[in-house]
Amino acid sequence: VAGAGGGCNDVQWCFSQVKGAIDDDVAEADIISTVEFNHSGELLATGDKGGPCRHLPAGARGNKNQPQSTNPSSDYLKSLEIEEKINKIRWLPQKNAAQFLLSTNDKTIKLWKISERDKRPEGYNLKEEDGRYRDPNTVTTLRVPVFRPMDLMVEASPRRVFANAHTYHINSISVNSDCETYLSADDLRINLWNLEITDRSFNIVDIKPTNMEELTEVITAAEFHPNQCNTFVYSSSKGTIRLCDMRASALCDQHSKMFEEPEDPNNRSFFSEIISSISDVKFSHSGRYMMTRDYLSVKIWDLNMETRPVETYQVHEYLRSKLCSLYENDCIFDKFECCWNGNDSVVMTGSYNNFFRMFDRGYRQDVTLEASRENSKPRSVLKPRKVCTGGKRKKDEISVDSLDFNKKILHTAWHPLDNIIAVATTNNLYIFQDKLN
Ligand SMILES: *[C@@H]1O[C@H](CO)[C@@H](O)[C@H](O)[C@H]1NC(C)=O
Ligand SMILES: *[C@@H]1O[C@H](CO)[C@@H](O)[C@H](O)[C@H]1NC(C)=O
Ligand SMILES: *[C@@H]1O[C@H](CO)[C@@H](O)[C@H](O)[C@H]1NC(C)=O
Repeated sequence: VAGAGGGCNDVQWCFSQVKGAIDDDVAEADIISTVEFNHSGELLATGDKGGPCRHLPAGARGNKNQPQSTNPSSDYLKSLEIEEKINKIRWLPQKNAAQFLLSTNDKTIKLWKISERDKRPEGYNLKEEDGRYRDPNTVTTLRVPVFRPMDLMVEASPRRVFANAHTYHINSISVNSDCETYLSADDLRINLWNLEITDRSFNIVDIKPTNMEELTEVITAAEFHPNQCNTFVYSSSKGTIRLCDMRASALCDQHSKMFEEPEDPNNRSFFSEIISSISDVKFSHSGRYMMTRDYLSVKIWDLNMETRPVETYQVHEYLRSKLCSLYENDCIFDKFECCWNGNDSVVMTGSYNNFFRMFDRGYRQDVTLEASRENSKPRSVLKPRKVCTGGKRKKDEISVDSLDFNKKILHTAWHPLDNIIAVATTNNLYIFQDKLN
């Protein structure tokens, strides 16, 4: 029941668009690996594991009043493909009319220029519209080519390649607020790059032990502070987050703050270390807080308090008793990401069975929603879902044992200004929006 408040349960999320193939037979190449709005939310970039990187003029402002499409191929023309394996995408802050983004695969980072075209020249003298050359003998009059409107097309062209700096798989890239540098992190090292210089980077963190057998911890994610250009954080497989200050020394092996929650001895098990590994870390827009995602929870940390998180939200606590089978089927190693809404009041992250969760920080409310083809009719409102955790199962509830662990939502993104979200299931991208929008 919608109240007068403003909590996440009071927003009615409704379906807007879905992209991707319908069939359940997922090719590795089609697995969505990242979703990222540009800084004002008009463009949404997604990457996948095998091939193309598609930049969709997002369901955001531009598309709001257009008929919403549920046909997976209908706006192919408007989207763009790059034959690349993509692990992460980050938009650069816009400096002039052109837009740029960074993408990375396992080892190599690329800078792309993104441009949009909605007109095309027509009426060439020597060429047909489809590009074939005309027989010169048939050309008897001279035409003046004209620009005609066409469907919006987005083009990407590679501008720079930053290679040969990582031995292990890159897990994060993050653009600095100075707009001149960015960082890239792999399992053991973090490098700092100048956006203009491709053949040189500075190693700012190196946790590789001289003897690899002593390795007990790897870097899992890293991000620059949104407005202090000297500060960045990185998280680890042991559940710690280190904050580093580049003013202190060139090599930030000595962190300036370390955030870690002491383990509750009652909860210790064989799986404790695995489930405390942090899969994502994100600063709030304000820069006051950061959010981390581990296997079972989302935690909000105040940068001024290292000893424990200020808020902890359970994402799917009912899985605690299922860790053994989740270990056997490797799901326990899934890397769920998390995101903030535009004003840091709500956080969102994914779960299994194509469920995703929102936690309203002020109203202390949470909701579970589902991305599925069943409710992908235009403007249909998403019904909150509930997982039955013992006792008698009520109508509309789903039991823990019937959750589908092959359907998982690892990547989500929240429009920076509006209640518009992008939710990636394995090979489908869903856009949902506030019914009021
Ligand atoms: C996001 O993309 C839109 C559409 O190309 C563009 O107009 C806008 O300036 C971009 N926003 C930023 C902050 O780069
Ligand atoms: C220990 O487990 C309980 C539920 O079983 C959970 O509520 C609590 O947050 C856990 N403690 C820590 C420190 O993770
Ligand atoms: C944050 O934004 C949402 C809409 O996205 C709005 O409903 C809410 O009132 C805002 N909260 C604050 C604290 O400004």
